[in-house]
Amino acid sequence: MNNKNKTQINWSRESVVYQIYPWSFKDSDGDGIGDLQGIIDKLDYLNDGTEKSLGIGAIWLSPIYTSPMVDFGYDISDYLDVDPVFGDIKIFDRLVKEAHKRDIKIIMDFVANHTSNKHPWFEESLSSRTNPKRDWYIWKDPKPDGSPPNNWLSVFGGSAWTLDRKTNQYYLHSFLPEQPDLNWRNIEVKTAMEKVLEFWIHKGVDGFRSDATYHLIKDDQFRDNPPKPNYQGPKDSYDGLIHTYSQRRPETLDVINSFCSILGLHKDKYIVSEAYLDIPEMAKLYKACTNSLHAPFNFNLISLPWNAKLVKNHIDDFEASLSKNDWPNYVLGNHDRPRVTTRIGEKRARLLAMLLFTLRGMPFVYYGDEIGMENGEIPPDKQKDLVGNRLAANRDGERTPMQWDDSAHAGFSIVEPWLSVDKKYKDVNVKKELNDPMSMLYLYRKLIHYRTHNHALLHGSYRSLDLGDNHVFAYLRELGDEKVLIMLNFSKDEESVSFPYQKANVICTTNGGRVGKIIDISTITLSPYQGYVVEVIN
Ligand code: GLC
Ligand code: MG
Repeated sequence: MNNKNKTQINWSRESVVYQIYPWSFKDSDGDGIGDLQGIIDKLDYLNDGTEKSLGIGAIWLSPIYTSPMVDFGYDISDYLDVDPVFGDIKIFDRLVKEAHKRDIKIIMDFVANHTSNKHPWFEESLSSRTNPKRDWYIWKDPKPDGSPPNNWLSVFGGSAWTLDRKTNQYYLHSFLPEQPDLNWRNIEVKTAMEKVLEFWIHKGVDGFRSDATYHLIKDDQFRDNPPKPNYQGPKDSYDGLIHTYSQRRPETLDVINSFCSILGLHKDKYIVSEAYLDIPEMAKLYKACTNSLHAPFNFNLISLPWNAKLVKNHIDDFEASLSKNDWPNYVLGNHDRPRVTTRIGEKRARLLAMLLFTLRGMPFVYYGDEIGMENGEIPPDKQKDLVGNRLAANRDGERTPMQWDDSAHAGFSIVEPWLSVDKKYKDVNVKKELNDPMSMLYLYRKLIHYRTHNHALLHGSYRSLDLGDNHVFAYLRELGDEKVLIMLNFSKDEESVSFPYQKANVICTTNGGRVGKIIDISTITLSPYQGYVVEVIN
């Protein structure tokens, strides 16, 4: 691709995004916690411009802002500064510069639904009923019997309301009580948060990941959420209600559009929203912005059952739901969900990696998934995720330190890290996998580099093929004369499939075989969980 073309295409259309959980990527100062300098030190691993590196085009940083860290940075007490545990704003500036030097864009986490209860805004709001910032948060009187204003529940368990005894009102928190929800119906809040976007844009960041987006706006009448019919689970469980009034309000789309308007004032920006949605709901969010700078995350590959037909149907339906300028994306894991290799095992994770990098759209990689890291087992007395104390779903397992090599603490830190390293690190680490053609890292690198240089994969169309086989998902990515065919065998058994083509050049296979060979694809036998990427010759 020549440079002229390149400047016309928003980077989000060509980049693989790599999510860094800053606590756990690389500790540079020996305090056992990852930091910004650590990230700078590892940028060459992510992309040094050669095929030796991973080849990613953007990093998304989970929050690095000043925070009491009750939810590990998702509780912000100063949106305009870096928490000392990670470094300072000067090091951040250096990170942006060093990343851009390597053609790596920076995506910041934008946590707009709530602040920390230690944010000066909330401290003011809490101080009295008449404080000018009272209405920056959501305060309601108790019911006559003293109980919370309605039945809304916190995602992290218990009521979504906490009583402030001094002023005798409840404040709303969709997550922990230490994360009070901002009142997005208040114009001053909106203006203050738009300034946050502007601040980081002026620091040189290229995009944002909007946290908990569908929680931003609540019903203006605060009506009770209806119970889920026939729900059998425990009383007061979050799953027992339909959250009609506490989230997914139609006015959220206006807020997203206001983010897009800010982004649209600057060159080449992008925003992706966190919301776990089905296809019709994603389609709605795509329509929120007219300037195509926004997409909702597509998390469905995390939850779909292991079934080739269902995955094919999902991709087909998702593609069909998109308008011309909508840009799809796919996610296999993040800091809130068990790691992909732990969920489905290594062989299947390889197949999903091939799917991820060959579909149309933006692939998201969660740090460590590229080496096949698994969830670490954290003994109860060493758990850090507070949510785990309230719910069954502790998230420490997917947040363990990156495994760089087989030295002490996996090369993450020179001291005992804040969260234990997974015990498999001697076998699963970057250093070991870099030169092993059978490793997960090798497969990731191969797929990412091929994708980055292949026009059909970057910008070509997507068309699935009907093979009359329930276990193999195959599709074409086409642009002009280029025809890339991907075949993925979801079965634990061998499968033979036929294509209306003769010869193809093998680019990549999930198990490393036959690369560079011309093969006959009129009928081809795929081994268990095997995937192929081939260029069709005729
Ligand atoms: C999002 C984040 C999660 C956090 C929550 C509250 O879901 O991904 O980690 O706990 O928001 O901010
Ligand atoms: Mg450190």
